[in-house]
Amino acid sequence: MPPRNSHSARPNKFVPYLAFIIFSAIFVFKLDVIISQTIFAARRNQEISTTRDIQLISPAPLIENGTFHRLFIVTWGESRAQILENGELLTLSLYKLSGSGFQSRKELLFGKIDMQIKLVPGNSAGTVTTYYLSSEGDHHDEIDFEFLGNSTGNPYTLHTNVFSQGKGEREQQFFLWFDPTQDFHTYSILWNPRCIIFYVDNIPIREFKNAERLGVPFPKDQPMRIYSSLWNADEWATQGGRVTTNWSLAPFTASYRNFSMDGCLWSRLTRTYSCTDDDFSRKPVLRMELDRRSRARMKRLQRDHMVYDYCRDKWRFPKGPAPECRIN
Ligand SMILES: *[C@@H]1O[C@H](CO)[C@@H](O)[C@H](O)[C@H]1NC(C)=O
Ligand SMILES: *[C@@H]1O[C@H](CO)[C@@H](O)[C@H](O)[C@H]1NC(C)=O
Ligand SMILES: *[C@@H]1O[C@H](CO)[C@@H](O)[C@H](O)[C@H]1NC(C)=O
Ligand SMILES: *[C@@H]1O[C@H](CO)[C@@H](O)[C@H](O)[C@H]1NC(C)=O
Repeated sequence: MPPRNSHSARPNKFVPYLAFIIFSAIFVFKLDVIISQTIFAARRNQEISTTRDIQLISPAPLIENGTFHRLFIVTWGESRAQILENGELLTLSLYKLSGSGFQSRKELLFGKIDMQIKLVPGNSAGTVTTYYLSSEGDHHDEIDFEFLGNSTGNPYTLHTNVFSQGKGEREQQFFLWFDPTQDFHTYSILWNPRCIIFYVDNIPIREFKNAERLGVPFPKDQPMRIYSSLWNADEWATQGGRVTTNWSLAPFTASYRNFSMDGCLWSRLTRTYSCTDDDFSRKPVLRMELDRRSRARMKRLQRDHMVYDYCRDKWRFPKGPAPECRIN
């Protein structure tokens, strides 16, 4: 009965296909369920972390761990970085082998950050302590404080810079009007869509205005993390590399405390951030610029304490100063 055989053989041929289709359907369904569960879990995590974020911005009265545990992670140097005093003090050390560093857990897109820092005392020649905001990727934005150590009795150099879309070369340097190694002093960065202001002990020392109308990109689209590190750069840091690190004085230690932050936290997951349009018209931090009095005070301070200004460096910029120099 060849016809019957061929008849029954025909449906058999479809069985593997049918099985494949059913299997795929189940697989796709399962996958769908897995994906939606993941999205749900992610969203829930997000909600949890945004509620946490809100607590971070307005200081929570009940905390089980200190500021540095909650907001930062040690990313470099292992035990050379230490979080002490129940999370309220952080120290970075530099040994000949390596330095150390930490970064914020969260990213922010605009805001003001304040940190009290006590720098490496004594002969700190060759050491560099950094405290800065930076985004990631090729065309990164960055707002820098760098403290270049010096031999005993000679002044530290406070170096500042602003990168937008990968371009820096906007250095201004200062000698401080106090000994930054004796006590803690507050170093702050204010960053909003209109300007960036560097403060030392709440005194503005530098303003970098948004000069987009002059064709200068301004950091305003890329969220940034807070970073800090202590490392050795004695090939160039101190008096152009002439004074090198004296390793018999190691470890070199810088200390951090009393961090505070007011601003907009960015969530990488949902690509949203914790500020509303209303915040931008209401919150001083997100809309302020220096007023005339503060600006005049800043100019006086710069006249007395600024030791390098890229806007006046004709040797490096023979074609004339950068466009933003006209308004800063
Ligand atoms: C604080 O954080 C540290 C490090 O994460 C942990 O070892 C310690 O148990 C925490 N303390 C409290 C009271 O939660
Ligand atoms: C260290 O002190 C010398 C002498 O006052 C000064 O020229 C130099 O700029 C200071 N800073 C650094 C980082 O070399
Ligand atoms: C390095 O520091 C040690 C300890 O203070 C000192 O005895 C030595 O002279 C220093 N070396 C240099 C090259 O200054
Ligand atoms: C900590 O910082 C806040 C503001 O940033 C300031 O008001 C307060 O006095 C500081 N605390 C200490 C002990 O310096």
